Amino acid sequence: MPTYRFDTTMKLTAILDLVAADMAGVNTHIRENMRSEVGLIEQMGEYIIAGGGKRLRPVVAILAAKAAGYTEDRHQVAASIIEIIHTATLLHDDVVDASDLRRGQETANSIWGNESAVLVGDFLFSRAFEMAIAMNDVRVMQILASTINRITEGEVMQLLYCNEPDTTEQQYMTVIECKTAKLFEAAAEIGAVLAQKDSQMEASLAAYGTHLGTAFQVADDLLDYRADSETLGKNVGDDLAEGKPTLPIIYAMQHGSATQVALLRQVIENGDREKLAQVVEIIEDTKALDYAQTVMLRESEKAMATLVAVPDSEYKAALLGLIEFSVARLY
Ligand code: IPE
Ligand code: IPE
Ligand code: MG
Ligand code: MG
Repeated sequence: MPTYRFDTTMKLTAILDLVAADMAGVNTHIRENMRSEVGLIEQMGEYIIAGGGKRLRPVVAILAAKAAGYTEDRHQVAASIIEIIHTATLLHDDVVDASDLRRGQETANSIWGNESAVLVGDFLFSRAFEMAIAMNDVRVMQILASTINRITEGEVMQLLYCNEPDTTEQQYMTVIECKTAKLFEAAAEIGAVLAQKDSQMEASLAAYGTHLGTAFQVADDLLDYRADSETLGKNVGDDLAEGKPTLPIIYAMQHGSATQVALLRQVIENGDREKLAQVVEIIEDTKALDYAQTVMLRESEKAMATLVAVPDSEYKAALLGLIEFSVARLY
């Protein structure tokens, strides 16, 4: 497998500079599409947008389109659709995970309640579809429809594994490929579809998105144990509080002593944030964080390898840079 070195890639600030003009267009599309006659929808939409977020998925869509040689401007609206879908999933996810901090501010559900968060999430999903239909591109619509379907399956599967200490690594990987990697895949694939290059280009960029998104979610699950809440903008320990068996826990369960495994079982069955410090100790003792790091690097290598089929350009260098950012990130 060919290996790229990270020193051939770009740093995040350079990547953001490269897409700045396109991202300004994306932000305009997002804001325009938050409009509604219903005041609460606009208010909640404005609140979430003002929270910012990294905007990683639209950046992937823009870069993929450019790396595939696209020269028109429909990638901006496509990228904004992707971010609106992402925002809808976050609204729903924070209800399901009972989270009260997102993007450094109180979650919408903790301010307006679960009912409003679910309904405004539905508004955003359907608005994304209105926008996709206006693009009048069947391939784009197909990708978006099946992506939302898969994300939902991922979230439902995850719900089934909550408080289930026997969840396997394979089951975990399937969940994250659906709930997270799929949207990164859609972002990159749609970029290639707009460029109307060959199916090889579409498949390569789609696979880049899958592996980038998988690495991104493993990083997220690591950060839930070892980040600083203020930097992360989310509460550390949310996964434990929900009894979510993520990769660090799954590995620690397989490699811990009988006493450690008994404690982990009990914490996953009951969901107990109070035991966070003890769980972090077990995770460190069993080298579970190192293992998660290995999985992340494996996915990164795969993401890099997919780009061999994409011609060299500054956009491709930026796509490589995003891999580095996604695994080394602290927020
Ligand atoms: C959060 O995604 C949901 C996950 C898939 C982990 P991001 O970390 O990209 O969230 P924002 O958009 O930057 O807030
Ligand atoms: C990602 O999972 C959620 C979605 C893809 C909707 P998480 O539950 O880990 O995301 P955070 O940590 O709440 O951002
Ligand atoms: Mg969550
Ligand atoms: Mg998380």
